[in-house]
Amino acid sequence: MGGSDGRHFRDVLGNVPTSVVAITAAGAPGRPEGMIVGSFTSVSLDPPLVSFLADRSSRTLAKIRAAGCYCANALAADQEHLSRKLATRGTGKFDGVAWEPSPLGNPVLDGVVAWIDCEVDKVVELGDHFLVVGAVRTLRAESAKTPLLFFRGGYGDYFSTTSLLLDRLVGW
Ligand SMILES: Cc1cc2nc3c(=O)[nH]c(=O)nc-3n(C[C@H](O)[C@H](O)[C@H](O)COP(=O)(O)O)c2cc1C
Repeated sequence: MGGSDGRHFRDVLGNVPTSVVAITAAGAPGRPEGMIVGSFTSVSLDPPLVSFLADRSSRTLAKIRAAGCYCANALAADQEHLSRKLATRGTGKFDGVAWEPSPLGNPVLDGVVAWIDCEVDKVVELGDHFLVVGAVRTLRAESAKTPLLFFRGGYGDYFSTTSLLLDRLVGW
């Protein structure tokens, strides 16, 4: 696929909204690692499996493969700054970022909507990405905040449902 085809691919696929999830892992002792993905999804209920897709050049992917586990942190609408920080390369991504270790030792970021702690079950090469399937060990919904979404190249908090509105209006 040439350069302009690649642009077209991204432009069209950008019309499909995604969640914004921080995939974190423990690197060297006390050294958190992480990246942002829009490709996180649940895979199976029995056994409980989830997955995301990592570009083959991702540095976090290498750390996850070495550690054998990762945590998926679903970012909240007020955490765009965190996404911008973790979607970069290099050191210092976690400077000023508050987190606690998960049961598997992966960073759980403060203020997220939910987190899912996994052991790596399978890594499957697919084109220029790797599908990283995780066997869920612990998962928790942390807050009732709305999620951070990504659509047509921009961040947003467009999510609204009748049940959420009722919740806000009457505490239902
Ligand atoms: C909204 C959003 C979604 C993204 N989704 C993915 C994804 O699904 N897979 C991926 O490999 N990179 C994705 N990225 C890009 C990575 O976060 C980015 O390349 C990051 O710098 C990788 O860091 P690393 O090399 O330290 O792992 C996404 C970035 C943003 C802002």
